[in-house]
Amino acid sequence: MPGHLLLRTVPHRLVLMKKINLQEKLALINDHWNPRIAGELNHQQVKLVKFQGPFTWHHHENEDELFMVINGRFKMEYRDESGGEKSIWIEPGEMIIVPKGTEHRPVAEEECHVLLFEPATTLNTGNQDNEFTRRELAAI
Ligand code: NI
Repeated sequence: MPGHLLLRTVPHRLVLMKKINLQEKLALINDHWNPRIAGELNHQQVKLVKFQGPFTWHHHENEDELFMVINGRFKMEYRDESGGEKSIWIEPGEMIIVPKGTEHRPVAEEECHVLLFEPATTLNTGNQDNEFTRRELAAI
């Protein structure tokens, strides 16, 4: 039956896919410990940040944090279950995940370029509020 001919309208979705060149984005950053938002997905953010020197000891009550080194290297200092201080060097192409509740402090003896992946709610200094705290992050 001609009347049965179904003309279905396929909804057109706007496809927004663009690649992001991490080195180009990093070249736009001229400060330290000030993360920029490079991407967002599923309530998480991909951030880019340059480390230099020691950060502040802190922990995140609710968020796990991923740190991946793009250029340079840094040392992740942390406190284990017994409160003992430990540290791990993270080299280019390596990453480390800091579980929620873990006291940690990144230290970069020389400038280090890092990709962070964490929930959008994550404050860079976690439970601390000091000169390192950045509440409003710019997109890059
Ligand atoms: Ni942290």
